Amino acid sequence: MELPAPLRQGVDSLLEKVPLPALKQAAKKLSERYRAELRDGRLHMAEDMAVKAYLATRLPATYAAVRASVGALTDACPDFQPKSLLDIGAGPGTMLWATAEAWPELEQAVLVEASAAVRKVGQSLAAGAIAVRTNWIAGDATIDLVGLEPADLVSATYVLDEIVPASLPKLIDRLWRLTADSLLIVEPGTPAGWQRILVARSQLIEAGAHVSA
Ligand SMILES: C[S@@+](CC[C@H](N)C(=O)[O-])C[C@H]1O[C@@H](n2cnc3c(N)ncnc32)[C@H](O)[C@@H]1O
Repeated sequence: MELPAPLRQGVDSLLEKVPLPALKQAAKKLSERYRAELRDGRLHMAEDMAVKAYLATRLPATYAAVRASVGALTDACPDFQPKSLLDIGAGPGTMLWATAEAWPELEQAVLVEASAAVRKVGQSLAAGAIAVRTNWIAGDATIDLVGLEPADLVSATYVLDEIVPASLPKLIDRLWRLTADSLLIVEPGTPAGWQRILVARSQLIEAGAHVSA
C-alpha cells in the first residue's frame, strides 16, 4: 500500500536536505532500539533525526500495515463510518492519514503523542493536506488521557511495545472506556507483539468487547 501522494510529498520535502550518513546512522540506532524493545525511560524518537529516520525507513511499511488493518475493519463493519478518531502514540500521523483515506467523512481527530519532535513533524505533514480538525496533545498516554472525550474510533498502532508491560492493562482499560464504537490495536508481527495482542484481546473480551477483525 503506497503512502498517499500528499504524505509522500511531505515526507520527501522533510528529507530533502538531510545528509545521508547522519540519516543512516539514526536509522541504525532506531532499528536497534526497536528490535531490542528497549524501554530505558527515553523515547525512541526524542530527536529530530530519529523522526526523519522513521519517516525514511519505517513509515512506508507501518502505513501499509495500518492501512491494511483499517481495511480489515471496513470489510468487517461496512456500516461503520467514524466521525471522530482518538489515536495514542500518533507518531507522524500514520493512523490519521489511513483513517482519513478510508473514511473521508471523518471530522475530527485527537492525537496524543509524547515526543515533541514527532508531534511537530506530524502536525506539519497534516497541515493543509488533511481536511480533518486535528488536536495534537502533548502527553503520556499511560497517565494523560483523563478529560478526553470518547471517540468513534480509538487506536494504538505500534505503540504498546514502547510501554512498560505493567502499565498496559490500565491503558487498555482507559482506551476501551474512551471507545464509542471501535478500538483498533496494531502491533509488530513478532512473537512479543502477537503476545501483547492476545493479552489485550483477552482483557477486552472480558470487558465486553467483541472482535471484529
Ligand atoms: C513506533 S511509533 C508509531 C507511531 C504511529 N502510531 C505509527 O503507527 O506509525 C510509537 C509512537 O508512540 C509514541 N509513544 C510512546 N510511548 C508513548 C506514551 N506513553 N504516550 C504517548 N505517546 C507515546 C512515540 O513517541 C512514537 O511516536
